[in-house]
Amino acid sequence: MKYMNIGTSGVKASRVALGVMRIDTKSPEEAATIVRTALDAGIDYFDTADCYHGGESSRVLGRALKELGIDRASIGIQTKVGIYRDPASDQITRYDFSAKHLIQAVDQELKNLQTDYVDYLLLHRPDTLVELDQLAEAFNTMQTSGKVRHFGVSNVNPMQVELLQSGISQKLDVNQIQFGLGHTGMVQQEFHVNMIDDSSLDHDGGLISYSRLKHMTIQAWSPFQTGFFEGVFIDNPKFPDLNDCLQKIAEQHGVSKSAIAVAWILRHPAGMQVLLGSMTPSRITEMAAGADVDLTAQEWYDLYLSAGNDLP
Ligand SMILES: NC(=O)c1ccc[n+]([C@@H]2O[C@H](COP(=O)([O-])OP(=O)(O)OC[C@H]3O[C@@H](n4cnc5c(N)ncnc54)[C@H](OP(=O)(O)O)[C@@H]3O)[C@@H](O)[C@H]2O)c1
Repeated sequence: MKYMNIGTSGVKASRVALGVMRIDTKSPEEAATIVRTALDAGIDYFDTADCYHGGESSRVLGRALKELGIDRASIGIQTKVGIYRDPASDQITRYDFSAKHLIQAVDQELKNLQTDYVDYLLLHRPDTLVELDQLAEAFNTMQTSGKVRHFGVSNVNPMQVELLQSGISQKLDVNQIQFGLGHTGMVQQEFHVNMIDDSSLDHDGGLISYSRLKHMTIQAWSPFQTGFFEGVFIDNPKFPDLNDCLQKIAEQHGVSKSAIAVAWILRHPAGMQVLLGSMTPSRITEMAAGADVDLTAQEWYDLYLSAGNDLP
């Protein structure tokens, strides 16, 4: 495993982290095995959110960490809030960056996670009705109480970061965004500047370059999914060229195709962190090994092209 600094906060974390969105259905024994496997692979950073299955993912993670007797200071825990799910309908009915909602959501997450603080709190999805004074009140309250150490965002474009940042005194260090060989839009657009084709469409506002300039860490979510949870590309017959290329490079490096898919994200000099979502211990181990693979620039481009992209 390799380690990195998150943003400019001084927080150090494994380059591959474990996201626990899918841990909610696991038994206590299964969850403990998943967390133990991740730790054994060098993963020391965990991502969750209050809206994952009504907080169940955080509860299962918190219980597993407790049962394993993990020293809290030896790991990083990050959660995300700001999405309101109506308890009656169990539907997401609004995004909510009001101070009251954010503070209550973090208090509930700390209970779920059985911890006194989170290392990072991210705003899960942008709330267009955000009032900056409300956001400042929430962040100041949570930081002063020691419940939240550092802050970030998720699914937010550069202008939205600028807006949010203008209202708060804490630096936004993280932007969590979908990225991987099955979802390459952020780089496609960098190659197709000023062209009149679909790849030139700016879906994210130049997020990679902006994040590098601002020293914000991009956390790549759903690194194995294509589209919006349409399934994984590994061994998927819809992606023969990508799988052939992954296989060839995997054999050269003596690792699995999954490890190469992780290494592809980490090869980008933006210095991203990968959020694995697998809950299969053997997969977690083989994916985490991708952190120790250094791809050449040509290997990176070969994989990018084999995923169905072009270079103009
Ligand atoms: N900020 C956001 O809006 C946002 C959105 C989504 C996710 N996230 C974060 O990102 C994390 C990861 O997301 P994700 O779970 O979608 O990531 P992912 O790693 O792309 O997908 C994990 C899923 O793919 C399956 N899978 C992986 N490799 C496979 C293979 N070779 N064959 C068959 N199935 C395979 C896993 O099954 P097994 O468990 O059986 O291995 C699991 O169901 C989440 O836990 C969460 O922390 C954030």
